[in-house]
Amino acid sequence: MRTARYYGRGDIRIDDVPEPEVGPGTVGIDVAWCGICGTDLHEYLEGPIFCPTHDTPHPISGETLPITLGHEFSGVVYAVGDGVEDLAVGQHVVVEPYIISDDVDTGPESTDYHLSENMNFIGLAGRGGGLGERIAVQRRWVHPIADSVPLDQAALIEPLSVGYHAVNRSGARAGDVALVGGAGPIGLLTAAVLKALGVTVVMSELSPLRRRKALESGVADHALDPRTTDVAAEVRTLTGGRGADVAFECTSVQVVLDTLMDALRPTGVLVVVSIWGKRSDFDMHKLVMKEIDLRGTIAYVNSHPATIELVESGKIDLAPFITGRIGLDGLVEEGFDTLIHRNETAVKILVSPSGTGL
Ligand SMILES: NC(=O)c1ccc[n+]([C@@H]2O[C@H](COP(=O)([O-])OP(=O)(O)OC[C@H]3O[C@@H](n4cnc5c(N)ncnc54)[C@H](O)[C@@H]3O)[C@@H](O)[C@H]2O)c1
Ligand SMILES: [Zn+2]
Repeated sequence: MRTARYYGRGDIRIDDVPEPEVGPGTVGIDVAWCGICGTDLHEYLEGPIFCPTHDTPHPISGETLPITLGHEFSGVVYAVGDGVEDLAVGQHVVVEPYIISDDVDTGPESTDYHLSENMNFIGLAGRGGGLGERIAVQRRWVHPIADSVPLDQAALIEPLSVGYHAVNRSGARAGDVALVGGAGPIGLLTAAVLKALGVTVVMSELSPLRRRKALESGVADHALDPRTTDVAAEVRTLTGGRGADVAFECTSVQVVLDTLMDALRPTGVLVVVSIWGKRSDFDMHKLVMKEIDLRGTIAYVNSHPATIELVESGKIDLAPFITGRIGLDGLVEEGFDTLIHRNETAVKILVSPSGTGL
């Protein structure tokens, strides 16, 4: 079968590899669609970061480079391994793409398996990936999804779960006002969860296409251009002088962090969602004087069932965020190149590894 494998910085190859073995306790999935994520771009440009190297295997997967990429994917079950009784061939599924040590409690009550030692992701640290035609995944990480959700939209459940967990971390409640810095896929999907909760959403974004997407999809009430609008002042105007209750940093850009701090009300909550490859110059005095709560958020933990429910029930429509569909052969030239050099022209680009969805 064909698969896109990462060999190191700037080196992704389309390889022919044997099909995965659907062993006991695992589920064989025909991948329908897989999203290209900013993390994949980081691996391509600056990696390996999450990926292992050629010499040092990942401590849990035991794998070295090359590894198959792709962690945002949907598909159809084509086989189930021994002991898997509650999923059948033909079922539509999405994957919560974790690689977590077997001795960690990953049960439905766990609130911290995503923080366990050496946690990593399928499609970054081994165990196959969504940018291959087929994958075998442990039953624990496979989530059924209703046939009524198109499989292309289902591929966005994974980044939507990032937004869901980020919103949980913020403690936002219906009636609050949120400011989201950055309307890339993560900012937009965080906004979608906030909207579904009944929060008023203000977004700040440089790209006109992404601002338009935020408004047309209905996930933002206001989409501001920080080059022409004083975002913090506008948020104060919109909130009767109070400021935003919660803010989400989805850019890893210093000036956005500063703007969010200015726009928050005293005792507001600032959630940093973006991955910072560098130290930030943080205004500690402002944090102290406004008693701001600063919180990190990584991935998701037992978030998929709730996220899937938001989509199945129609409370969140993921269709507007899909802006491109390509095959494996176009992965680097069309997919990565667009997102690296012209990301203001796209939101989420999906890949059909077998080409059948195109
Ligand atoms: N915490 C997690 O679990 C998690 C998971 C997935 C991704 N991420 C991270 O989230 C971040 C966002 O991901 P993405 O895919 O949406 O990235 P992206 O690059 O597509 O989006 C960032 C957006 O910020 C906008 N922006 C840049 N400077 C700005 C400014 N000064 N004012 C307003 N907007 C500005 C850009 O125009 C862009 O639209 C990345 O750092 C990514 O690595 C975190
Ligand atoms: Zn991702």
